[in-house]
Amino acid sequence: MPSLFDPLTLRGLTLRNRVAMSPMCTYSCEQRDGRASDWHLHHLAARAAGGVGLVLSEATAVTANGRISPQDLGLWDDGQVDGMRRVAAAVRAQGAAFGVQLAHAGRKAGTYRPWAERRGAATVADGGWPDDVVGPTAERFSEGTATPRALDEAGLTTVTRSFAAAAARADAAGVDVVEIHAAHGYLLHAFLSPLSNDRRDGYGGDEAGRSRLLLEVVDAVRSVWPASKPLLVRVSASDWREGGWDGDATVRLARTLAARGVDLVDCSSGGAVAGVTIPVHANYQVGFAERVRREAPIASGAVGQIGDPRQAEAIVAEGRADLVLLGKALLRDSAWAVHAAQALGTTPPWPVQYRWAVG
Ligand SMILES: Cc1cc2nc3c(=O)[nH]c(=O)nc-3n(C[C@H](O)[C@H](O)[C@H](O)COP(=O)(O)O)c2cc1C
Repeated sequence: MPSLFDPLTLRGLTLRNRVAMSPMCTYSCEQRDGRASDWHLHHLAARAAGGVGLVLSEATAVTANGRISPQDLGLWDDGQVDGMRRVAAAVRAQGAAFGVQLAHAGRKAGTYRPWAERRGAATVADGGWPDDVVGPTAERFSEGTATPRALDEAGLTTVTRSFAAAAARADAAGVDVVEIHAAHGYLLHAFLSPLSNDRRDGYGGDEAGRSRLLLEVVDAVRSVWPASKPLLVRVSASDWREGGWDGDATVRLARTLAARGVDLVDCSSGGAVAGVTIPVHANYQVGFAERVRREAPIASGAVGQIGDPRQAEAIVAEGRADLVLLGKALLRDSAWAVHAAQALGTTPPWPVQYRWAVG
C-alpha cells in the first residue's frame, strides 16, 4: 500500500503526495463579480507552499444564480478566467496541482455569507436574487432561504451547459483538475436525494432518474475537459436519514461515474435537508471512501475530521482512500503537509527558499 507522501497519478497528472486542500468557501469576492482576487491567490498559494499535493478551490459557481452568497467565486463568465489563471499559476509554481470545484448551489443559493449580520436569503439590495433561486422542486430548504423555482427542461439544459462552459474556462485558465460538486444539498445533490427530489419527470423518481442530471453534467464536462486531466466528483455519501441517499447508492453511483470517465469520488456527507444530526467524529466519513475504493473501479478521497498526521497516513496505508482531503486543519496551519511529513519522518516538501529553517 502507498503512503501519504507517495505520489498519486490520475490520468496525465501526478500529484506529489496524497494530501489535498478540501474546497472551502471564503465568500471574499467583495465586488460580487465572482472574480478571483489577491485574497484567493495568497490563500490558495500559501497551502501549495505548505506542501499539499492538490489545492482545490472553493465552490466556484457555474451560473451567477448558483452562488451560495453574492461573494462566491465564479467561472460563469469569460471575464473570470484571468483571475483564475493567476491563482492556477501561483499554486503550480509552488509544486502543487490546482483544481477548481465547479458548483451550483441550487435551492441553497443567494444567502448572506456566514459572518453577515443577517441570515438566510440575501435581499436584492444586498446583492441577492431571491426571485431567481432554482431547485429540483419548488420546496425551499428551510425557513429563511428563498422559495425556489423548479427547473424545467430548458433550465436543466442551461445548468448542464453552464458546467461544461465553466470547465472549458478552467482549462483555458490552466487548471489541472475539475471537481464537480454533487454534495451538501446543493443542486446536483438535491436532485440525487429522494429527500429533496420528488419530481415525476425523467429527472426524478427512481435512482436512475434522480442521478440523470449529475450524469448529464459529467458527460458534458468530460466532453470539453481534456482527456489528460482528471475529473473528480464530490458526493454526500449519506443523508444520515432513513429513506435518504446512502452508502449503497454511493457505490452504485461510483461504478457509473467510473464508466463515464470520472477518476475519483470525494466522499463527504450530509446537507440534503435541515434538522439532521450527523455523528461527527474522527474519520466519520472514511468508511464511505473505503467502500467506494473497494467496491467500485475508481479512486476515492476521504474527508472530514482528519487532522493528525498518523491518522491521515493510516487512511492511505490501510487502503481506505487514495487521497486525504483536509479542511479546517489547513485553515489552522497552511504548512500542515510539511509538519505532517516531519512528524512521519519523511522529507518535508518545503519550498527551497525555506531550506534554512529546516532542522
Ligand atoms: C469554511 C468552510 C467552507 C467550506 N466550503 C466548502 C465548499 O465550498 N465546497 C465543499 O465541497 N465543501 C466545503 N466545506 C467542507 C469542507 O470541504 C470539508 O469537507 C469539511 O470541512 C470537513 O473536513 P474537515 O473536518 O477537514 O474540515 C467547507 C468547510 C468549511 C469549514
